[in-house]
Amino acid sequence: MKKKTLKTFSLFIGMGLIGYTLSVAYVEYENAQRIQKTMNLLPHENMSPLGVQAYKVITEKGCQYCHSQENDLPFYSHFPIAKKWMEQNRHQGLQHFQLDPMLAAMRQESPISEVDLAKLEWAIKNRTMPPKSHLKLHWKGSLNNKERKTLLTWISKNRKKQHKNSPASKPFKNEPIQPIYSHFSSDPKKRALGQSLFHDIRLSSNNTLSCASCHSLTRGGVDGLNAPKGAESAQGSINTPTVFNAVFNTHQFWDGRAEHLQAQAAIPPVDPLKMASPSWKAILDKLEKDAALKDQFLALYPEGITKNSVTDAIAEFERSLTTPNSRFDLFLKGNKIALTEQEKRGYSLFKKHKCDTCHTGEAIGGRSFEVMGLKRDYFKDRGNVTDIDKGRFNLTQNPIDLHRFKVPTLRNIALTAPYFHDAHAQTLEQAVALMGAYQIGVDFSADEIQKITAYLKTLTGEYKGTTLSPSG
Ligand code: HEC
Ligand code: HEC
Ligand code: HEC
Repeated sequence: MKKKTLKTFSLFIGMGLIGYTLSVAYVEYENAQRIQKTMNLLPHENMSPLGVQAYKVITEKGCQYCHSQENDLPFYSHFPIAKKWMEQNRHQGLQHFQLDPMLAAMRQESPISEVDLAKLEWAIKNRTMPPKSHLKLHWKGSLNNKERKTLLTWISKNRKKQHKNSPASKPFKNEPIQPIYSHFSSDPKKRALGQSLFHDIRLSSNNTLSCASCHSLTRGGVDGLNAPKGAESAQGSINTPTVFNAVFNTHQFWDGRAEHLQAQAAIPPVDPLKMASPSWKAILDKLEKDAALKDQFLALYPEGITKNSVTDAIAEFERSLTTPNSRFDLFLKGNKIALTEQEKRGYSLFKKHKCDTCHTGEAIGGRSFEVMGLKRDYFKDRGNVTDIDKGRFNLTQNPIDLHRFKVPTLRNIALTAPYFHDAHAQTLEQAVALMGAYQIGVDFSADEIQKITAYLKTLTGEYKGTTLSPSG
């Protein structure tokens, strides 16, 4: 009897083992086909040998299983349990990191997103990818040291290329965050015209609001309100972001619905929640009556006062609103005593907890759209969810963009309370604690919050040679 049980048991195990091995073999076969498909896209001749190697590593390790929307799911994903597991992993994977734009940029040798480089670097250095569970069915899925080195070298080469003019000192040269050093070409006359238009209340329906009413240049480029009231007293529904360093943003607005500064500037004057003018024609008619202004325009724009010339001048002015020379920038440039010990520890924590993988680049943000609530359901916990909270989804209708917002710049963050698109965090300490909990999945201690906040307060920079301050 005992013997028989043992025999059945062995048979069972044996069949299980064979089944498992066959599954793995089939996964390998399917994987090979998938790799071939992605490798077939390679126009090798455009790519550097290192670029080809990095592309191969990412493709061959099956990173696309969970990070590509273009790929089919593997065969086992059709089994009920595997399907759920796979879909969950892939949804989370895609929420964190999307490979398709990066692979496309690699094939064309065009600039790689700084955020992608930072995220990839973090995952490789911390050996978090691919997830351990994935390796059970993908024996060849893990990255060996040579492959890790290939990717890290490729990342640092790309970063060097992008920031070749950065004055960062050696220890910081290969980090995701760089000091502000870029200047954006600016025509001084157009800039001066744009500056006066930025402060011109005639852009509003009842001559009460200018751009500067909500983006006060003496208050960190914001209004300090949860959400602003418009010219016609309509209550706005989203927090005002700063105009300082907005030039670094890949897109404008929390959901990125304006592609650039000029496109953005055309919107608030006729937005009923903001300056509430009935039309651009109404605004231009008002400005036309100002003979001196008309001459000023004609000298710079043959077309005279038009929606195009007004918004072009405003954007020209906004391109000059960068704030270099914060204490942190001096530190990155090699001044070791520009930060206190506590502030330095704050920066280390900021990097350790991968804050710098989203808050990246010269502006420490503005380079990507990220899901708010990656680790916990922020919106469920907060309650009262509205359409505004859907973020970028409102534009793209792509489920993977639900609750995605443009990552705000952290430059001058000490001056721009309250925080988040919904102004849910009234203080910087609260914002840091919430970021830890909802984006990283850690509950920071009071001491950690203090250190990170101390670091963030070193990001206040200079405008026209004077350090920005709360009162101006
Ligand atoms: C089985 C699915 C799966 C595979 C395969 C996979 N990932 Fe991921 N990836 C995830 C998940 C899930 C996350 C979110 C991790 C977390 O919650 O911290 C993630 C996060 C990431 C991130 C963002 C880093 C972070 O912590 O924010 C990067 C970069 C990344 N993966 C790269 C890779 C690379 C490179 C490969 C291939 C070597 C790979 N992944 C393979 C599921 C996967
Ligand atoms: C009534 C207050 C108000 C006025 C007036 C106003 N804005 Fe804004 N501004 C906001 C709010 C609120 C947002 C965010 C809206 C959103 O993302 O949907 C914003 C967003 C922006 C952004 C995008 C910043 C980023 O990081 O995405 C820029 C740039 C900007 N405004 C410039 C201007 C200019 C130029 C004017 C004048 C033509 C102007 N604003 C008038 C409140 C205002
Ligand atoms: C996955 C990307 C991501 C990571 C990682 C991340 N953030 Fe953020 N951060 C965001 C997004 C998106 C917002 C805007 C959220 C919103 O408005 O709902 C934001 C907002 C903030 C704000 C408020 C800015 C403002 O002007 O409103 C602060 C402060 C901040 N983050 C600090 C941190 C710190 C500190 C860490 C690390 C502990 C961190 N972030 C990690 C994406 C990220």
